[in-house]
Amino acid sequence: MKVAVIGVGHVGLVTAATLAHFGHEVLGLDEDASKIESLERGVAPFYEPGLQDLLDEVLGSGKLRFTRDAARAIDGADCAFICVGTPARADGEANLLAVEKAALAVAGNATGDIVVIQKSTVPVSTADRLHLMFAKATIHNVRLVSSPEFLREGAAVEDSLNPDRILVGSDDPRAHELMKELYAPVLGDSCRYFEVDIHTAELAKHACNAFLALKISFANALARVCEASGADVDAVADIMGSDHRIGREFLNAGLGYGGYCFPKDLLAFKAVAGRLGYEFGLLEEVIKINRGALQAAVDKIKDALWNVESKKILLLGLSFKPGTDDVRESPSLNLARALTRLGANVVGHDPQANKFAVRELPGLQVVDDLYEGADGAHCIVICTEWPEFKDLDLVRLKGIVTLPIIVDGRNLLNEEAVVGAGFSYIPTGRPPVNL
Ligand code: UDX
Repeated sequence: MKVAVIGVGHVGLVTAATLAHFGHEVLGLDEDASKIESLERGVAPFYEPGLQDLLDEVLGSGKLRFTRDAARAIDGADCAFICVGTPARADGEANLLAVEKAALAVAGNATGDIVVIQKSTVPVSTADRLHLMFAKATIHNVRLVSSPEFLREGAAVEDSLNPDRILVGSDDPRAHELMKELYAPVLGDSCRYFEVDIHTAELAKHACNAFLALKISFANALARVCEASGADVDAVADIMGSDHRIGREFLNAGLGYGGYCFPKDLLAFKAVAGRLGYEFGLLEEVIKINRGALQAAVDKIKDALWNVESKKILLLGLSFKPGTDDVRESPSLNLARALTRLGANVVGHDPQANKFAVRELPGLQVVDDLYEGADGAHCIVICTEWPEFKDLDLVRLKGIVTLPIIVDGRNLLNEEAVVGAGFSYIPTGRPPVNL
């Protein structure tokens, strides 16, 4: 099939490359000149494991091309994916301006009947708006589909090539047939296919992200109680998780959830529920606990250092999670902001995200060599659980820091080894050791 993908960010680019890998003719459209220029040179504009190899393959075969010209992208397309950003407005509602713009580009440039697949995460009922808009803006028949993605950054290529589910919402039977054809290469025993109405698909995506965030906030609330009582939050999570009705995943306490999706999706879900007449107080609490998880880390650092002013604090990990260079809504950067406000001298190190961290937080000092950052530090904080931080040379670190204090915001390190090397260790969700 001939496919246009509008918006080649984290979701759109992986989707476009996967569809090209499955043999479709794909044109990726984006208005960001630097992104298109990088892709035309064959270089992925952000770090995502496996993406560069996949791009090499599909650019080599000619199945994937890029353009900034909407008419060229939409001309003759059987379907168009909308994969643009839906950031939060000040009142929490999703800002759907980019979705509207993408839909107008399809309407204005369609050369025949077309299937429009809305992949951006949007509030329930967005499809009604799009239906109305297409009815006015084009003479062609537009079959509208909501097919939210469940990609995790850092594992997006793997998730896209081997999805655990495909969700297709549409009120048009022919659209369902076409979508089955499009997704045929991934449909197998390990992938469940959900064929539902369009509102159910839209709502399901918000429900999934909100529930995952709820699990994380539950773990973070538990962490506070464990710290106060002497219990161990990871052991509690293991015990809970061994009950298959609960499941162990997303019960890791830490600095709270971040990233492009959860923070804005929680706000948008709460806002749309409120607009529909249901006050979703549970989501409010999830958001509040998430803020509290970061504040708990700030309090621990203050408590350990007494006066934070002018103390050097090294933050290890700046991306919102390991395996990505994405720093959007990163808890580490929020921690850097909070500590800087308190007068600390904050230095950051990340295996992939240093460049993007400085762009997001100008003035943040970053180091490529974490031992250089640790030199003279009064406190080291593990913010993101990059696997390489597990192998820190603790003896070397002990020799160069001013104060041997490690705050483990992700419970990554081995407590015995840290304490054995002479550090005070302040984990998450269990009492500090050697403080
Ligand atoms: C999420 C959803 O998982 C994915 O299905 C959806 O398509 C997009 O949003 P992503 O934002 O890539 O994916 O990250 P995810 O792995 O879900 O982690 C989100 C945040 O939660 C990260 O900051 C992570 O560190 C945090 N987290 C996750 C925890 O604090 N504890 C956990 O147990 C799990």
